[in-house]
Amino acid sequence: MRITNAQFLTSVSTGKLPEYSQEIAVVGRSNVGKSSFINFLCDNGKLARTSSTPGRTRLINYFDINKGQFTLVDLPGYGFARVSDDEKIKWGQIIENYLQNSPNLKHVFIIVDIKVDSSPLDLQMLNYLNSYSIPYTVIANKADKLPKSQIPKQVSKIATHFKLGIGNVYVVSSFKKTGKEKVLERIEQIITTTNDFE
Ligand code: GTP
Ligand code: MG
Repeated sequence: MRITNAQFLTSVSTGKLPEYSQEIAVVGRSNVGKSSFINFLCDNGKLARTSSTPGRTRLINYFDINKGQFTLVDLPGYGFARVSDDEKIKWGQIIENYLQNSPNLKHVFIIVDIKVDSSPLDLQMLNYLNSYSIPYTVIANKADKLPKSQIPKQVSKIATHFKLGIGNVYVVSSFKKTGKEKVLERIEQIITTTNDFE
């Protein structure tokens, strides 16, 4: 699988969602690198807006990949402390409305920070996806922040925290652009597999 074309489609908030083919949604805590991950996969630093300030992505942004082959969906992050309670509730609603009502949601990538081995909010997301039978994959981003020798131990901690096998945690650095091949292989599997519950 190669990504040869990536284009912004639209942004939406709550309410009726558009229907694009084979949506893969990217979720995770604020500032973990969701938008950077999309740019890294698509080899386009300007596709999704990123920022060193948490809370950059406030809407659901859809990106067409390879002219209709599949769709990447960038969601707002959860767990950003410095927003008002009203805004937290609104972002929660945007995320939940999307996960519950998106007609073509095929898979979720949960982006986590490789340096953080346990996050209650990520665990909550994973349990949520399990309870709605939404398939997901955990991506540990920011691998450049750890010495190579520490990566296996850290992946094992993350896998244990989420009760997953270590093979189900994909290590990337959106910054150093490492780990892309395995993620693209995973995407290939995802978009060529029919979900059992369909
Ligand atoms: P929100 O939209 O606010 O939820 O954030 P986000 O998850 O989309 O994160 P974003 O992609 O905007 O990146 C947040 C910060 O993390 C930026 O300063 C990025 O440069 C940085 N970042 C993203 N990926 C990596 C990475 O692989 N390594 C390092 N060191 N920094 C990264
Ligand atoms: Mg973002």
